[in-house]
Amino acid sequence: MIIAVDGPAASGKGTIAKALANHYGLPHMDTGMLYRSVALALWRFGGNAGNEFEALRAVEGIEQIDPGDEELRSETIGKLASKVSAYPSVREALLERQHGFARQEGGAVLDGRDIGTVICPDASAKLFVTATPEIRAQRRHKELTGRGVDAHYDDILIDIRARDERDAGRDAAPLVQAKDADLLDTSDLTIERAVQRAIALVEARLQAS
Ligand code: DC
Repeated sequence: MIIAVDGPAASGKGTIAKALANHYGLPHMDTGMLYRSVALALWRFGGNAGNEFEALRAVEGIEQIDPGDEELRSETIGKLASKVSAYPSVREALLERQHGFARQEGGAVLDGRDIGTVICPDASAKLFVTATPEIRAQRRHKELTGRGVDAHYDDILIDIRARDERDAGRDAAPLVQAKDADLLDTSDLTIERAVQRAIALVEARLQAS
């Protein structure tokens, strides 16, 4: 059983994917972390995100990145990840890791931007998790200030809109809802309600198949 969870930045897809993995006892992969690791590797070796060859070279450096590194979760690295992820060669170089993870016996939950469309088009259930840019900016702002980061709502909103535009507007595996994905708008939902709704949608898909 493969569950694909896609959606824009700060939509709640990560929390929902983790909760689904927990509920069904499946392993979970946050594929955004792969692109963030490439971005951090590129940043560390002083590479230029405007150069596809340098971005591709940074893929080789991701084994050296500590998954617990706080920098991976920063806005700077998120933005850089969005840039390097637009390169087809970078996406191609990360394909096998994702396919390998998805092929595990028993199944898996993967979250990202192109799981339902490109990585696992045959997933048993697909969710497209979204929320308005304003709500997502509010959530990100709360999360950052909660961690003691000096963050400004207006700047975050601008960044979120720019990231949406880049992720949805690129040619290679753009952020788009798969035709057979269920839409889950979390704008007016608490985390608990959003998770309940996600489980109900997945259950309905599993029963229909
Ligand atoms: O989900 P996130 O914010 O950690 O993702 C960071 C960036 O990585 C995102 O802006 C676009 C890219 N990404 C992608 O292109 N495809 C994925 N499956 C996951 C993330």
